[in-house]
Amino acid sequence: MKVPASVTKAHAAARKVRESAHAPYSKFKVGAALISASGELFTGCNVENASYGGTVCAERVAILKAVSEGALEFADIVVVTEGAAPAFPCALCLQVMAEFFSPKTKIWIADPKAVSSVHTFSELLPVPFGPKQLALGKSKKKS
Ligand code: THU
Repeated sequence: MKVPASVTKAHAAARKVRESAHAPYSKFKVGAALISASGELFTGCNVENASYGGTVCAERVAILKAVSEGALEFADIVVVTEGAAPAFPCALCLQVMAEFFSPKTKIWIADPKAVSSVHTFSELLPVPFGPKQLALGKSKKKS
């Protein structure tokens, strides 16, 4: 697997932001670094909440930070975790990714030492729910 310099840089950023994770409940710290189509870097860590349900994953924090700063298209995301097995984005994060990622956006799975695998977004979520499904009045069948 060839890891481009931009991804190596994002991996270092994800590893660093992971140190800011607020994970007193799970103790599972996650760092994410998103590379926009224009090469800007946006980072995020998981921010847990005592309600549990209010917890936000690192990937979504990075995406929401990026979108709120005006970035809407993304080339890569690096996700750093440390555990018994590499961790992939959860289904809720994949749904949020579906809003902004292209099928070709690359998801790099890593631990603090190195990237272990890379996947296109369409490999992780081949049939996303999206705006096409919401198009009103355009369906062939009446319901
Ligand atoms: N978590 C992430 O930040 N990203 C993922 O893709 C999976 C899970 C966080 C949420 C929670 O704070 C902790 O990891 C345990 O689920």
